[in-house]
Amino acid sequence: MNDELLIIDFGSQYTQLIARRLRQANYYATVLPQAAITSATLTKFEGKGLILAGSHHSATTNNHPPIRRFVRSGRVPVLGICYGMHLLAKFYQGKVRRGGGGEYGATEIRLVNNSPLWEDSPSVHRHVWMSHGDEVHALPPGCVCTARSASGTIAAFESPTKRVYAVQFHPEVSHTVGGGRMLRNFARLCGCRATWTQGNIIDKILSALRAQVGAKDRAIIALSGGVDSTVACVLAHRVFGARMTPMLVDNGLLRAHEADQVISALRDHLNIKVHRIKAADRFLAALQGVQDPEKKRNIIGKTFIRVLEEETQKLGGADWLIQGTIYPDVIESAALVGTQVIKSHHNVGGLPTKMKLRLLEPIRVLFKDEVRRVGAKLGIARALLWRHPFPGPGLAVRIIGEVRPHYVKILRAADHIYLEELHQAGYYTKVSQAFCVFLPVRSVGVGGDARSYHYVIALRAVLSTDFMTARAAALPAQLLQKIATRIINEVKEVGRVVYDCSSKPPATIEWE
Ligand code: XMP
Repeated sequence: MNDELLIIDFGSQYTQLIARRLRQANYYATVLPQAAITSATLTKFEGKGLILAGSHHSATTNNHPPIRRFVRSGRVPVLGICYGMHLLAKFYQGKVRRGGGGEYGATEIRLVNNSPLWEDSPSVHRHVWMSHGDEVHALPPGCVCTARSASGTIAAFESPTKRVYAVQFHPEVSHTVGGGRMLRNFARLCGCRATWTQGNIIDKILSALRAQVGAKDRAIIALSGGVDSTVACVLAHRVFGARMTPMLVDNGLLRAHEADQVISALRDHLNIKVHRIKAADRFLAALQGVQDPEKKRNIIGKTFIRVLEEETQKLGGADWLIQGTIYPDVIESAALVGTQVIKSHHNVGGLPTKMKLRLLEPIRVLFKDEVRRVGAKLGIARALLWRHPFPGPGLAVRIIGEVRPHYVKILRAADHIYLEELHQAGYYTKVSQAFCVFLPVRSVGVGGDARSYHYVIALRAVLSTDFMTARAAALPAQLLQKIATRIINEVKEVGRVVYDCSSKPPATIEWE
């Protein structure tokens, strides 16, 4: 048995938080979408505990036979959270009913019996976060109620002999006081050891890479300038050394000074030499006359693959392609099978099959916060680790419609001023992502007593934790005015600056 806890994701927005809370307490937890669970997955499971997470579905209509069988086998302790609690109640012949008013948001519960989950916190009254319509209204035989909410609803039950523990509230949400401790207590009662520490994570990743890679194998990695590919590169470099070629494709769609900054940061601090591929003309030529956002993404993706292929051929080939895939991508791609594509995200998925490269994903088990912490431990500069995300297709999706070299220049100059001002005012780190968008429409103004007719720049700044939802940041009016004045004064062809106040949903963060 290993020290892993498995969390089954039934679609609740909080599921990934459960894993993050446990990992923050140094317990290793993985997430598998319910769709990926079969009897075989569970039979092969070697971890020490199982967590059934929440869902927007009702347990009164869902059954999940493989999970039911596994839970009832009693092989490992099981914690059910919200919907997971309802499933446990059903699996053991308790009763779950729909409606009854439900409880939403901050709620007070009273601990009515001892539980290993309540250890280390003396108070009998607890503030917790609830979000449920269904409720357990008859306990399964042999289980005891361990907490009730003020309304009398069963807020927790358990049976140590059956090895089941269930809570109606969400311990993973920060509004649940002491919730992290409850999850840690569950990990402890499963017998897990707290071995998921930064140093250990790096050792584990490196030994996994060394086990996969042959002593003479060669690798390539395409750097985007973002935190994920940088951390993946530094880790892989420890294994491959000079047998790895990090490449930065300068597609002409990068932000001002971006390529130089990335290349010098890796060279100066980490002694890693990045191979710069100048391909701006090629990308811009391929984009000429193309208006449609999806076509633009497609062209950029394909050109990117072709450029990488050619460069790899020039190097005499490679065995591995290293990618900075991170854990939420892994969970989401497993969970999103068959759902609608809103924007096709730029990646190099076509590359390994065509070039017979094998894919190596050093950080595929890490959440973003872990990637940053590991990056810091590896000595990567803070400025690189805390950069805002930047889309693969770059400035192309921030120019509405056709991408013309002339537009790229205007956008790059405006964006540079915007980010400079945000840094200076201390707002760059306060917002999750900020950038300019170029609108190819002209608006009338006055400049030097004459009529002007210039382009429009939109400013976007959002607050978001996972980039799945976001709201517009409320930047101070004075700062916005200063930015607008500077952009209009310094970028000759811009005559008007507007601020994008839309939330996601219904808008997306990028404009295309
Ligand atoms: P949207 O626009 O979908 O963006 O709300 C969510 C987050 O994803 C980034 N983004 C991309 N990243 N390739 C990427 O690597 C892409 O094609 C792409 N499109 C959007 C976006 O910047 C935001 O952080």
